[in-house]
Amino acid sequence: MTAPAAEPTLPLGDVVIRTIAMPADANANGDIFGGWLVSQMDLGGAILARTTSLSRVTTVAIDAMTFLRPVSVGDTVSCYAQLLSIGRTSMKVSVEAWVHTYASSTQQRVTAGHFTYVAIDPAGKPQPVKR
Ligand SMILES: CC(C)(COP(=O)(O)OP(=O)(O)OC[C@H]1O[C@@H](n2cnc3c(N)ncnc32)[C@H](O)[C@@H]1OP(=O)(O)O)[C@@H](O)C(=O)NCCC(=O)NCCS
Repeated sequence: MTAPAAEPTLPLGDVVIRTIAMPADANANGDIFGGWLVSQMDLGGAILARTTSLSRVTTVAIDAMTFLRPVSVGDTVSCYAQLLSIGRTSMKVSVEAWVHTYASSTQQRVTAGHFTYVAIDPAGKPQPVKR
Protein backbone atom coordinates (compact mmCIF):
# COMPACT_ATOMS: atom_id res chain seq x y z
CA MET A 1 0.00 0.00 0.00
CA THR A 2 1.39 3.44 -0.93
CA ALA A 3 1.26 6.29 1.57
CA PRO A 4 -1.06 9.17 0.60
CA ALA A 5 0.72 12.21 -0.83
CA ALA A 6 1.41 14.89 1.77
CA GLU A 7 -0.93 17.86 1.61
CA PRO A 8 0.80 20.98 0.24
CA THR A 9 1.31 23.78 2.75
CA LEU A 10 1.39 26.52 0.11
CA PRO A 11 -1.02 27.21 -2.76
CA LEU A 12 0.07 26.73 -6.37
CA GLY A 13 -0.10 29.96 -8.35
CA ASP A 14 -1.41 33.44 -7.66
CA VAL A 15 -4.60 34.48 -5.92
CA VAL A 16 -7.30 35.32 -8.48
CA ILE A 17 -10.44 35.43 -6.31
CA ARG A 18 -11.07 35.93 -2.61
CA THR A 19 -14.55 35.89 -1.09
CA ILE A 20 -16.55 34.75 1.95
CA ALA A 21 -18.82 31.67 1.80
CA MET A 22 -22.37 32.85 2.59
CA PRO A 23 -25.44 31.04 3.98
CA ALA A 24 -27.14 31.18 0.55
CA ASP A 25 -24.30 28.97 -0.78
CA ALA A 26 -24.88 26.18 1.77
CA ASN A 27 -26.52 22.80 1.33
CA ALA A 28 -28.90 21.04 3.73
CA ASN A 29 -25.95 19.88 5.88
CA GLY A 30 -24.85 23.47 6.40
CA ASP A 31 -21.73 22.95 4.27
CA ILE A 32 -21.02 24.93 1.12
CA PHE A 33 -22.29 23.48 -2.19
CA GLY A 34 -19.57 21.93 -4.32
CA GLY A 35 -21.12 23.64 -7.35
CA TRP A 36 -20.64 27.08 -5.80
CA LEU A 37 -17.00 26.28 -5.15
CA VAL A 38 -16.48 25.03 -8.72
CA SER A 39 -18.05 28.21 -10.10
CA GLN A 40 -15.65 30.36 -8.05
CA MET A 41 -12.73 28.27 -9.31
CA ASP A 42 -14.01 28.52 -12.90
CA LEU A 43 -14.23 32.32 -12.61
CA GLY A 44 -10.76 32.50 -11.08
CA GLY A 45 -9.20 30.35 -13.79
CA ALA A 46 -10.99 32.40 -16.45
CA ILE A 47 -9.42 35.58 -15.08
CA LEU A 48 -5.97 34.09 -15.63
CA ALA A 49 -6.93 32.78 -19.09
CA ARG A 50 -8.33 36.16 -20.13
CA THR A 51 -5.22 38.03 -19.07
CA THR A 52 -3.09 35.41 -20.85
CA SER A 53 -4.99 35.53 -24.16
CA LEU A 54 -6.28 39.12 -23.98
CA SER A 55 -9.61 37.87 -25.29
CA ARG A 56 -12.90 36.38 -24.20
CA VAL A 57 -12.58 32.79 -23.07
CA THR A 58 -14.94 29.89 -22.50
CA THR A 59 -14.51 26.78 -20.38
CA VAL A 60 -14.25 23.61 -22.47
CA ALA A 61 -13.24 21.07 -19.81
CA ILE A 62 -12.74 20.51 -16.09
CA ASP A 63 -10.47 17.58 -15.13
CA ALA A 64 -8.88 16.09 -12.06
CA MET A 65 -11.38 17.80 -9.78
CA THR A 66 -10.93 16.78 -6.16
CA PHE A 67 -12.96 17.83 -3.14
CA LEU A 68 -10.69 17.36 -0.12
CA ARG A 69 -12.66 18.80 2.80
CA PRO A 70 -15.92 20.67 3.41
CA VAL A 71 -16.20 24.45 3.41
CA SER A 72 -18.27 26.15 6.14
CA VAL A 73 -20.42 29.26 6.03
CA GLY A 74 -18.23 32.23 6.97
CA ASP A 75 -14.96 30.72 5.75
CA THR A 76 -12.77 32.95 3.61
CA VAL A 77 -12.30 31.20 0.26
CA SER A 78 -9.29 32.04 -1.90
CA CYS A 79 -8.78 30.65 -5.41
CA TYR A 80 -5.26 30.34 -6.78
CA ALA A 81 -4.51 29.80 -10.46
CA GLN A 82 -1.42 28.79 -12.39
CA LEU A 83 -1.04 28.37 -16.14
CA LEU A 84 -0.01 24.77 -16.91
CA SER A 85 0.15 24.88 -20.72
CA ILE A 86 -0.92 26.84 -23.79
CA GLY A 87 -2.14 25.13 -26.96
CA ARG A 88 -3.14 26.84 -30.19
CA THR A 89 -6.46 28.19 -28.90
CA SER A 90 -6.64 26.55 -25.46
CA MET A 91 -5.07 27.14 -22.06
CA LYS A 92 -4.89 24.60 -19.24
CA VAL A 93 -4.98 26.16 -15.79
CA SER A 94 -4.48 24.59 -12.36
CA VAL A 95 -6.96 26.07 -9.89
CA GLU A 96 -6.96 25.42 -6.15
CA ALA A 97 -9.35 26.71 -3.49
CA TRP A 98 -8.02 27.29 0.02
CA VAL A 99 -9.99 28.39 3.09
CA HIS A 100 -9.31 29.98 6.41
CA THR A 101 -11.64 31.07 9.18
CA TYR A 102 -11.67 34.59 10.60
CA ALA A 103 -9.96 33.18 13.72
CA SER A 104 -7.04 31.59 11.89
CA SER A 105 -4.22 32.90 9.76
CA THR A 106 -3.35 29.51 8.30
CA GLN A 107 -5.31 28.17 5.37
CA GLN A 108 -6.16 24.67 4.15
CA ARG A 109 -6.58 23.44 0.60
CA VAL A 110 -10.18 22.31 -0.01
CA THR A 111 -10.36 21.64 -3.75
CA ALA A 112 -8.08 21.35 -6.74
CA GLY A 113 -8.73 20.90 -10.44
CA HIS A 114 -7.54 21.53 -13.96
CA PHE A 115 -9.65 23.90 -16.05
CA THR A 116 -9.23 24.23 -19.81
CA TYR A 117 -10.30 27.47 -21.48
CA VAL A 118 -10.53 28.33 -25.15
CA ALA A 119 -9.86 31.85 -26.43
CA ILE A 120 -12.85 32.92 -28.53
CA ASP A 121 -13.56 35.73 -30.98
CA PRO A 122 -16.68 37.93 -30.81
CA ALA A 123 -18.63 35.21 -32.68
CA GLY A 124 -17.69 32.60 -30.06
CA LYS A 125 -15.32 30.75 -32.41
CA PRO A 126 -11.89 29.57 -31.20
CA GLN A 127 -9.04 31.93 -31.98
CA PRO A 128 -5.29 31.55 -31.39
CA VAL A 129 -4.06 32.48 -27.93
CA LYS A 130 -0.92 34.02 -29.39
CA ARG A 131 -2.26 36.24 -32.17
C1 LIG B 1 -15.12 25.63 -26.60
C2 LIG B 1 -15.61 25.70 -28.03
C3 LIG B 1 -15.62 27.19 -28.49
C4 LIG B 1 -14.61 24.90 -28.87
O1 LIG B 1 -15.07 24.92 -30.18
P1 LIG B 1 -14.65 23.74 -31.20
O2 LIG B 1 -15.18 24.09 -32.54
O3 LIG B 1 -14.99 22.44 -30.59
O4 LIG B 1 -13.06 23.98 -31.24
P2 LIG B 1 -11.88 22.95 -31.44
O5 LIG B 1 -12.30 21.54 -31.68
O6 LIG B 1 -11.01 23.62 -32.47
O7 LIG B 1 -11.13 23.00 -30.03
C5 LIG B 1 -10.58 24.21 -29.55
C6 LIG B 1 -9.54 23.87 -28.53
O8 LIG B 1 -10.17 23.25 -27.41
C7 LIG B 1 -9.54 22.02 -27.11
N1 LIG B 1 -10.54 21.11 -26.58
C8 LIG B 1 -11.70 20.75 -27.16
N2 LIG B 1 -12.36 19.89 -26.37
C9 LIG B 1 -11.57 19.69 -25.29
C10 LIG B 1 -11.68 18.87 -24.11
N3 LIG B 1 -12.75 18.12 -23.90
N4 LIG B 1 -10.69 18.92 -23.23
C11 LIG B 1 -9.60 19.70 -23.41
N5 LIG B 1 -9.43 20.49 -24.50
C12 LIG B 1 -10.41 20.46 -25.42
C13 LIG B 1 -8.95 21.56 -28.43
O9 LIG B 1 -7.91 20.63 -28.22
C14 LIG B 1 -8.48 22.87 -29.00
O10 LIG B 1 -7.27 23.25 -28.38
P3 LIG B 1 -5.97 23.81 -29.20
O11 LIG B 1 -6.48 24.80 -30.23
O12 LIG B 1 -5.14 24.50 -28.17
O13 LIG B 1 -5.31 22.65 -29.82
C15 LIG B 1 -17.04 25.10 -28.20
O14 LIG B 1 -16.98 23.69 -28.01
C16 LIG B 1 -18.02 25.69 -27.21
O15 LIG B 1 -18.48 26.83 -27.40
N6 LIG B 1 -18.36 24.93 -26.14
C17 LIG B 1 -19.24 25.42 -25.10
C18 LIG B 1 -18.41 26.19 -24.07
C19 LIG B 1 -19.26 26.67 -22.91
O16 LIG B 1 -20.39 27.07 -23.09
N7 LIG B 1 -18.67 26.65 -21.71
C20 LIG B 1 -19.35 26.99 -20.51
C21 LIG B 1 -19.97 25.77 -19.97
S1 LIG B 1 -21.01 26.15 -18.62
